[in-house]
Amino acid sequence: MKTKINFICNDSEIETSIHPGTTLLDFIRKQLHLTGTKEGCREGDCGACTVLIGELIENSVRYHSANSSCLFPVGDINGKHVVTIEGLNSNELNTIQKIFLEEGASQCGFCTPGFIISLTAYLLSNSKYDSAEAVESLSGNICRCTGHSSIINAARSVLKYVIKNITQDEAHIKGLIHAGIIPNYFLTIDDRLKKLRKSKSIENKNSSAVLNISGGTDLFVRKWDEILNQDINLLFSHNLPDHISEKNGKVVIGARASISDFINSTLIQKYFPSLKSKLKLFGSLPIRNRATIGGNIVNASPIADMVNILLVLNSTVEIKTDSSERIILLKDFYKGYKQVDLNPGELIHSISFNIPQEKYFFNFEKVCKRTYLDIASVNSSVYLTIQDDVIKKINLSAGGVAPIPLCLIKTSEFLTGKSINSKNIFNAYNVALSEINPISDARGTKEYKALLLRQLIFAHFISLFPDKISVREIA
Ligand code: FES
Ligand code: FES
Repeated sequence: MKTKINFICNDSEIETSIHPGTTLLDFIRKQLHLTGTKEGCREGDCGACTVLIGELIENSVRYHSANSSCLFPVGDINGKHVVTIEGLNSNELNTIQKIFLEEGASQCGFCTPGFIISLTAYLLSNSKYDSAEAVESLSGNICRCTGHSSIINAARSVLKYVIKNITQDEAHIKGLIHAGIIPNYFLTIDDRLKKLRKSKSIENKNSSAVLNISGGTDLFVRKWDEILNQDINLLFSHNLPDHISEKNGKVVIGARASISDFINSTLIQKYFPSLKSKLKLFGSLPIRNRATIGGNIVNASPIADMVNILLVLNSTVEIKTDSSERIILLKDFYKGYKQVDLNPGELIHSISFNIPQEKYFFNFEKVCKRTYLDIASVNSSVYLTIQDDVIKKINLSAGGVAPIPLCLIKTSEFLTGKSINSKNIFNAYNVALSEINPISDARGTKEYKALLLRQLIFAHFISLFPDKISVREIA
């Protein structure tokens, strides 16, 4: 029996029994006929399909930064509030739209709804505003005809206007209504979401095959149409934890924590402050908000960025069913290309690593075809400690050079007890060559990828120990 999906779209309550794997983009455009949300790439890359998602968290609605509706299954919108561009202007253009017009920030207009929604999401999800952050919030949106300068100018003007027109004592939502950013009905959403009947799980068919969907940012790029045509029960793993906490000397990451949760976590920033500066290397903001750490692990991509980082921290994976649980090392989770140690019914519940007890050095490096917002050609992380000027302990990882995300075990063993100089790093790279097995594909030839790994290993040491090793030494 099909279960109904209930949510609020703009100011209207929606109930549907459509296949829960239908993308939100298709549902909005084809069923609700709200065509302001555009279909561009259908891969989470262009931002034309951006919508705003609000959900009840601790009894009040919180709006997350915009999500790519082309990768968002409608079953996962159950109990939430979706806002499209039509939901932001009731009778006339809203403040952001007027400022875009004044600044000449829209030409053909195809990308414009996505930009407006992303900026609204920034204003809704932050209480203190910063011009650079507002511009950064547009990182998942691409304009092909206007040019980004006028859009950035418009975003800055919007921010100035909002800061000037919201009084300090105004409640957040009320202030944004007062500034003409969102319509009045936003004040009713809290109560309406509480009343909304929320189904516990959404099942589409009486099938024995089950697909658990966490973020789905890769799955819905590759298989969105297959999901609609196959006899599979879709489950949305809402019961999995999504918080990042410190417990018994460990950092514990809930499997449903998003990449944004991970990078912005005070714990992660405390122990790995350099990661924040690499933010743009981990996909656009909408993708970072949607993709989960658990999904990144289970997806088993050899170039998974989060896995690459978690491997050098000697992370463990807690795997559970309704009646059992086990803990294994992340490095042992991968059995071959896209093969993982997960039995039917098992789900990754959390990922943990020990809080470092002594002074340590950490670095992450990645090379892509585009500088930012791209998947890696090759990536690598390092975690090491030093004693008496030699490496006491080191873990190196490498992605894109083998069928699985790789721990460079022999290379790490080779470097243990060695001092940091170019000769030792060159020799370590020769050991790494015996551990890797890159293939030629769209992201480069196998020779190129091997060369990239060499550069990344050097980049770790140049970045962490500029007084011991310099770029000139690898020329
Ligand atoms: Fe391009 Fe969704 S259509 S991000
Ligand atoms: Fe044409 Fe942006 S205004 S793509």
